[in-house]
Amino acid sequence: MELIICKDEEAGSKRAYQIIKDTLKKKPNLVLGLATGTSPIKLYKLMIEDNLEGNTTYADVKTFNLDEYIGLAEDHEQSYRYFMNQTLFNHLDILIENTYVPRGVGDSCQNAEEYDEILKYLGPADIQILGIGSNGHIAFNEPGTDFNLTTHITDLTKSTIEDNSRLFNNISEVPTKALTMGISSIMKSKKIILLAFGEKKADAIKKLLSGKITSEFPASILNKHHAAIIICDEKVASKLSIN
Ligand code: GLP
Repeated sequence: MELIICKDEEAGSKRAYQIIKDTLKKKPNLVLGLATGTSPIKLYKLMIEDNLEGNTTYADVKTFNLDEYIGLAEDHEQSYRYFMNQTLFNHLDILIENTYVPRGVGDSCQNAEEYDEILKYLGPADIQILGIGSNGHIAFNEPGTDFNLTTHITDLTKSTIEDNSRLFNNISEVPTKALTMGISSIMKSKKIILLAFGEKKADAIKKLLSGKITSEFPASILNKHHAAIIICDEKVASKLSIN
């Protein structure tokens, strides 16, 4: 696993964006795996800016997202589909029908099966963007999740519900279940970029870099990936012993 330390979130996002841009140049029909949360927001802004300036096109790009809250429809302001449309897709020249996010409403088992079919059809991500939860979750693969699972229904842990409650009016509004891509699908990605900015991510990154692979800390599996990159800022790095 490669660790890239950048000055701050802005610099880290630029670094991540450069990787996407270079790959997009070589492969205009890129398959991009995308994440929600605050970590990729600056990266998405850079994608939009460059696209608006006409330096890139997403006309042939396909994307899939990692996860969705169960119970939130596409037009719910806290649904991940809504977030992705507002934060990225509506501002790019991408075809919205080429963007996939798991469905949060309807029969969740069927939605999970259908999403795995979609992932099979799209093939592995050329680049998968990831954030990390304070308990080491990636997508919504919480501690204890079997590394071999594909898309599945998961119960969110107390710490994830607490972390994510900042975006809701009240903690009681945070859904307790989600549909998430499994780790086995994430690990098929050709390249993975995990973004971690700010002091709050330092402990998780330290644990990840310890190299111990355990389902109790789901992100630890990334140590086994052939092309996983962590891009962090100096706030994270200052807590790592390598510094
Ligand atoms: C959520 C998402 C994850 C994301 C994590 C971290 O739980 N399901 O995919 O990585 O939050 O979010 P943030 O980037 O806001 O810290």
